[in-house]
Amino acid sequence: MHDLADQPIGVFDSGIGGLSVLKALMAELPHERFVYVADSANAPYGERADAFVSRRTLAIADYLTQRHHIKALVVACNTATAAAIHEARQLYPRMPVIGIEPALKPAVALTRTGRVGVIATTGTLASAKFAALLDSMHGQADFVIQPCPGLAHAIEQSVELPNESGTSGPVYQLCQSNLQAMGPFGHGPGQIDTLVLGCTHYVFATSALRELAGPDIPLLSTGEPVARHTGRLLDSQGLRSETRLHATLPLLLTNGALSALQSAADRWLGLPAQHCQIADGLAQETAHKR
Ligand code: DGL
Repeated sequence: MHDLADQPIGVFDSGIGGLSVLKALMAELPHERFVYVADSANAPYGERADAFVSRRTLAIADYLTQRHHIKALVVACNTATAAAIHEARQLYPRMPVIGIEPALKPAVALTRTGRVGVIATTGTLASAKFAALLDSMHGQADFVIQPCPGLAHAIEQSVELPNESGTSGPVYQLCQSNLQAMGPFGHGPGQIDTLVLGCTHYVFATSALRELAGPDIPLLSTGEPVARHTGRLLDSQGLRSETRLHATLPLLLTNGALSALQSAADRWLGLPAQHCQIADGLAQETAHKR
């Protein structure tokens, strides 16, 4: 029987976006072992019904607990957190279940113009959880909220393209049209001076976003604070791994194309292909279920 503290931490996202969170987790918690699931066969979540996202979240939580005996779960997806974190916590009352939400509070602390841009999926921005977060920030800044349908999907698709840094690719084009719709970025009165990336995929569009918003506009993501929070939760429950034995590189699983996960792992985490595998037994949802 293994000590629970030596078990891995499960991390998942609709696809490869959550690798941005895994990167922060690996840096913050170098002694931990991670099993990452990319539900790419069912991505993107952002334009799906809550019931679908919730069903996927619980199916993956079940998969990771049953097959990999995880000690904690990081939902590295804003959309899944908004749709299903409460249910997941109810189902696993003894396991730390860590979610992620757009970094509105840090943005309020940073902005000087008082105008903060927020980009995320349609699902995240339409959720009751986001409405409550926005409400809790009432009067502290003007938030310019922009759903970006299709952007997570475009990022997912871009990973196997040789050069997504050009301005003609769909990632750049979608970033451009969405940022233009938000109004001017800059440090003058009435301009947006801080941009919140409310979707874990968007971190991988940083170069396009930086070029379009301007090099001195902070782009706020949530991987690092979530990683620190995970560490604190492990400590408070006596679950932090004490042994360096587990400082092994992570296992990355997908139910989509293995080559896409391998490219993303190589490009964004510098991880060799042998860490990526097909997630046996984690099915694609049938098309009629929404
Ligand atoms: N990466 C996810 C998020 O943070 C979901 C993107 C999607 O599947 O639409 O919201």
